[in-house]
Amino acid sequence: MNKIIIAIDGFSSTGKSTIAKQLAKKLNYIYVDTGAMYRAVAYFALENNLIGEDFFHTEKLIEKLDDINIAFKFNEDLGFAEVYLNGKNIEKAIRTLEVSQYVSPIATISEVRHKLVEQQQLMGKDKGIVMDGRDIGTVVFPDAELKIFMTASAETRAKRRYKELLERGHNLSYDDVLENVTTRDRIDSTREDSPLVKAEDAIEIDNSDLTIDEQLETLLNLANKIIKT
Ligand code: DC
Repeated sequence: MNKIIIAIDGFSSTGKSTIAKQLAKKLNYIYVDTGAMYRAVAYFALENNLIGEDFFHTEKLIEKLDDINIAFKFNEDLGFAEVYLNGKNIEKAIRTLEVSQYVSPIATISEVRHKLVEQQQLMGKDKGIVMDGRDIGTVVFPDAELKIFMTASAETRAKRRYKELLERGHNLSYDDVLENVTTRDRIDSTREDSPLVKAEDAIEIDNSDLTIDEQLETLLNLANKIIKT
Protein backbone atom coordinates (compact mmCIF):
# COMPACT_ATOMS: atom_id res chain seq x y z
CA MET A 1 0.00 0.00 0.00
CA ASN A 2 1.09 3.53 -0.83
CA LYS A 3 2.19 5.66 2.09
CA ILE A 4 1.16 9.26 1.66
CA ILE A 5 1.49 12.67 3.29
CA ILE A 6 -1.72 14.24 4.49
CA ALA A 7 -1.54 18.00 5.07
CA ILE A 8 -4.33 19.60 7.10
CA ASP A 9 -4.30 23.39 7.27
CA GLY A 10 -6.76 25.95 8.48
CA PHE A 11 -7.55 28.77 10.90
CA SER A 12 -7.11 28.34 14.65
CA SER A 13 -9.55 26.17 16.54
CA THR A 14 -11.08 24.54 13.48
CA GLY A 15 -10.66 21.18 15.18
CA LYS A 16 -7.81 20.21 12.86
CA SER A 17 -5.83 18.39 15.50
CA THR A 18 -8.77 16.36 16.82
CA ILE A 19 -9.53 15.04 13.39
CA ALA A 20 -5.89 14.69 12.30
CA LYS A 21 -5.11 12.64 15.40
CA GLN A 22 -8.00 10.24 14.75
CA LEU A 23 -7.23 9.98 11.06
CA ALA A 24 -3.60 9.09 11.82
CA LYS A 25 -4.74 6.43 14.27
CA LYS A 26 -7.08 4.83 11.71
CA LEU A 27 -4.36 4.78 9.06
CA ASN A 28 -1.62 3.79 11.49
CA TYR A 29 0.26 6.95 10.50
CA ILE A 30 2.38 9.35 12.53
CA TYR A 31 0.55 12.50 13.63
CA VAL A 32 2.37 15.81 14.02
CA ASP A 33 0.76 18.91 15.51
CA THR A 34 2.97 21.70 14.13
CA GLY A 35 1.05 24.34 16.13
CA ALA A 36 2.49 22.64 19.23
CA MET A 37 5.98 23.35 17.90
CA TYR A 38 5.28 27.09 17.49
CA ARG A 39 3.66 27.03 20.92
CA ALA A 40 6.79 25.38 22.33
CA VAL A 41 8.89 28.28 21.02
CA ALA A 42 6.44 30.80 22.52
CA TYR A 43 6.59 28.90 25.83
CA PHE A 44 10.41 28.97 25.72
CA ALA A 45 10.36 32.72 25.02
CA LEU A 46 8.01 33.33 27.96
CA GLU A 47 10.05 31.13 30.31
CA ASN A 48 13.24 32.97 29.35
CA ASN A 49 11.72 36.45 29.65
CA LEU A 50 12.17 37.13 25.95
CA ILE A 51 8.56 38.19 25.50
CA GLY A 52 6.09 39.88 27.78
CA GLU A 53 3.36 42.45 27.92
CA ASP A 54 5.53 45.34 26.75
CA PHE A 55 8.67 43.73 25.32
CA PHE A 56 9.60 41.36 22.51
CA HIS A 57 13.29 40.46 22.25
CA THR A 58 13.23 39.00 18.74
CA GLU A 59 17.00 39.12 18.19
CA LYS A 60 17.74 37.40 21.51
CA LEU A 61 15.21 34.70 20.71
CA ILE A 62 16.81 34.14 17.31
CA GLU A 63 20.22 33.82 19.02
CA LYS A 64 18.81 31.18 21.36
CA LEU A 65 17.07 29.07 18.72
CA ASP A 66 19.78 26.41 18.88
CA ASP A 67 18.93 25.92 22.58
CA ILE A 68 15.40 24.90 21.67
CA ASN A 69 14.99 21.18 21.21
CA ILE A 70 11.46 20.09 20.39
CA ALA A 71 10.50 16.42 20.35
CA PHE A 72 7.33 14.34 20.26
CA LYS A 73 6.97 11.18 22.35
CA PHE A 74 4.09 8.79 21.96
CA ASN A 75 1.96 8.40 25.08
CA GLU A 76 0.38 4.92 25.05
CA ASP A 77 -2.37 5.89 27.49
CA LEU A 78 -3.44 8.97 25.56
CA GLY A 79 -2.93 7.39 22.14
CA PHE A 80 -1.02 10.33 20.70
CA ALA A 81 2.41 11.94 20.86
CA GLU A 82 3.00 14.68 23.40
CA VAL A 83 5.36 17.57 22.85
CA TYR A 84 8.58 17.98 24.82
CA LEU A 85 10.82 21.01 25.13
CA ASN A 86 14.41 20.20 26.08
CA GLY A 87 13.26 16.95 27.66
CA LYS A 88 10.31 18.43 29.58
CA ASN A 89 6.73 17.46 28.79
CA ILE A 90 4.96 20.73 27.93
CA GLU A 91 1.85 19.29 26.28
CA LYS A 92 -0.48 20.91 28.82
CA ALA A 93 1.59 24.02 29.52
CA ILE A 94 1.40 25.22 25.90
CA ARG A 95 -2.41 25.20 25.77
CA THR A 96 -2.95 28.24 28.01
CA LEU A 97 -4.46 31.50 26.77
CA GLU A 98 -1.15 33.21 27.62
CA VAL A 99 0.81 31.02 25.19
CA SER A 100 -2.01 31.42 22.63
CA GLN A 101 -1.65 35.19 22.86
CA TYR A 102 2.07 35.17 22.12
CA VAL A 103 2.31 32.36 19.62
CA SER A 104 1.12 34.16 16.47
CA PRO A 105 3.71 36.97 16.71
CA ILE A 106 6.36 34.31 17.39
CA ALA A 107 5.23 32.45 14.25
CA THR A 108 5.87 35.54 12.10
CA ILE A 109 9.65 35.27 12.72
CA SER A 110 11.26 33.75 9.62
CA GLU A 111 14.18 32.20 11.54
CA VAL A 112 11.71 30.38 13.81
CA ARG A 113 9.73 29.15 10.80
CA HIS A 114 12.87 28.01 9.02
CA LYS A 115 14.00 25.90 11.97
CA LEU A 116 10.61 24.29 12.51
CA VAL A 117 9.85 23.68 8.82
CA GLU A 118 13.18 21.87 8.46
CA GLN A 119 12.34 19.59 11.39
CA GLN A 120 8.82 18.98 10.01
CA GLN A 121 10.16 18.00 6.59
CA LEU A 122 12.52 15.54 8.24
CA MET A 123 9.64 13.99 10.21
CA GLY A 124 7.72 13.42 6.97
CA LYS A 125 10.55 12.10 4.85
CA ASP A 126 9.28 8.49 4.98
CA LYS A 127 5.65 9.59 4.43
CA GLY A 128 2.86 7.84 6.36
CA ILE A 129 2.20 11.07 8.20
CA VAL A 130 -0.69 13.38 9.01
CA MET A 131 0.51 16.88 9.77
CA ASP A 132 -1.65 19.83 10.74
CA GLY A 133 -0.86 23.53 10.79
CA ARG A 134 -1.09 26.64 8.64
CA ASP A 135 1.50 26.15 5.91
CA ILE A 136 1.77 22.38 5.55
CA GLY A 137 0.21 22.12 2.08
CA THR A 138 1.81 25.34 0.84
CA VAL A 139 5.34 25.34 2.29
CA VAL A 140 6.26 22.25 4.31
CA PHE A 141 4.91 19.63 1.88
CA PRO A 142 3.78 21.36 -1.33
CA ASP A 143 3.72 17.89 -2.94
CA ALA A 144 1.55 16.26 -0.27
CA GLU A 145 -0.76 13.70 -1.86
CA LEU A 146 -3.78 14.92 0.11
CA LYS A 147 -4.32 18.50 1.25
CA ILE A 148 -7.25 19.58 3.37
CA PHE A 149 -8.20 23.14 4.28
CA MET A 150 -10.52 23.25 7.29
CA THR A 151 -12.82 26.18 7.94
CA ALA A 152 -15.60 27.11 10.37
CA SER A 153 -17.01 30.47 11.44
CA ALA A 154 -15.01 32.41 14.07
CA GLU A 155 -17.94 32.12 16.52
CA THR A 156 -18.17 28.35 16.11
CA ARG A 157 -14.44 28.05 16.66
CA ALA A 158 -14.41 30.38 19.69
CA LYS A 159 -17.30 28.44 21.27
CA ARG A 160 -15.41 25.15 20.84
CA ARG A 161 -12.17 26.57 22.23
CA TYR A 162 -13.99 28.24 25.15
CA LYS A 163 -15.67 24.95 26.11
CA GLU A 164 -12.37 23.11 25.86
CA LEU A 165 -10.54 25.64 28.04
CA LEU A 166 -13.32 25.65 30.66
CA GLU A 167 -13.20 21.86 30.78
CA ARG A 168 -9.47 22.07 31.42
CA GLY A 169 -10.17 24.33 34.39
CA HIS A 170 -9.13 27.67 32.86
CA ASN A 171 -11.04 30.68 34.09
CA LEU A 172 -11.73 33.13 31.26
CA SER A 173 -14.53 34.75 29.27
CA TYR A 174 -15.97 33.76 25.90
CA ASP A 175 -15.21 37.29 24.62
CA ASP A 176 -11.51 36.87 25.45
CA VAL A 177 -11.42 33.61 23.52
CA LEU A 178 -13.24 35.09 20.51
CA GLU A 179 -10.85 38.04 20.54
CA ASN A 180 -7.87 35.67 20.61
CA VAL A 181 -9.25 33.58 17.75
CA THR A 182 -9.92 36.59 15.49
CA THR A 183 -6.61 38.27 16.32
CA ARG A 184 -4.72 35.08 15.51
CA ASP A 185 -6.65 34.68 12.24
CA ARG A 186 -5.56 38.16 11.25
CA ILE A 187 -1.89 37.76 12.19
CA ASP A 188 -1.64 34.23 10.72
CA SER A 189 -3.16 35.19 7.37
CA THR A 190 -1.45 38.55 6.89
CA ARG A 191 2.13 37.76 7.95
CA GLU A 192 4.79 38.06 5.26
CA ASP A 193 6.43 34.67 5.67
CA SER A 194 4.20 31.70 4.83
CA PRO A 195 0.82 33.29 5.53
CA LEU A 196 -2.14 31.02 6.06
CA VAL A 197 -3.67 30.52 2.62
CA LYS A 198 -5.50 27.63 1.06
CA ALA A 199 -3.23 25.70 -1.30
CA GLU A 200 -4.66 25.69 -4.81
CA ASP A 201 -5.04 21.93 -4.77
CA ALA A 202 -6.44 21.68 -1.23
CA ILE A 203 -9.94 20.39 -0.56
CA GLU A 204 -11.88 22.83 1.60
CA ILE A 205 -14.08 21.42 4.34
CA ASP A 206 -16.34 23.71 6.37
CA ASN A 207 -16.95 21.69 9.52
CA SER A 208 -19.29 24.16 11.31
CA ASP A 209 -22.15 21.66 11.05
CA LEU A 210 -20.24 18.40 10.84
CA THR A 211 -19.73 15.94 13.66
CA ILE A 212 -16.28 14.52 14.29
CA ASP A 213 -17.41 11.15 12.92
CA GLU A 214 -18.68 12.77 9.72
CA GLN A 215 -15.40 14.62 9.23
CA LEU A 216 -13.39 11.51 9.91
CA GLU A 217 -15.40 9.49 7.40
CA THR A 218 -14.93 12.15 4.72
CA LEU A 219 -11.19 12.33 5.28
CA LEU A 220 -10.76 8.56 5.47
CA ASN A 221 -12.58 8.13 2.15
CA LEU A 222 -10.41 10.78 0.51
CA ALA A 223 -7.21 9.25 1.90
CA ASN A 224 -8.12 5.66 1.05
CA LYS A 225 -8.88 6.58 -2.55
CA ILE A 226 -5.30 7.82 -2.94
CA ILE A 227 -3.66 5.12 -0.83
CA LYS A 228 -5.35 2.31 -2.74
CA THR A 229 -4.60 3.57 -6.24
O1 DC B 1 -2.72 25.22 15.66
P1 DC B 1 -2.42 26.10 16.86
O2 DC B 1 -3.56 27.02 17.22
O3 DC B 1 -1.94 25.33 18.04
O4 DC B 1 -1.21 27.02 16.36
C1 DC B 1 -0.65 28.00 17.17
C2 DC B 1 -0.07 29.13 16.34
O5 DC B 1 1.07 28.68 15.63
C3 DC B 1 -1.01 29.73 15.31
O6 DC B 1 -1.60 30.91 15.78
C4 DC B 1 -0.13 30.02 14.12
C5 DC B 1 1.12 29.25 14.33
N1 DC B 1 1.34 28.17 13.35
C6 DC B 1 1.98 28.49 12.18
O7 DC B 1 2.27 29.65 11.94
N2 DC B 1 2.30 27.52 11.29
C7 DC B 1 1.97 26.24 11.53
N3 DC B 1 2.31 25.29 10.64
C8 DC B 1 1.29 25.90 12.72
C9 DC B 1 0.98 26.88 13.62
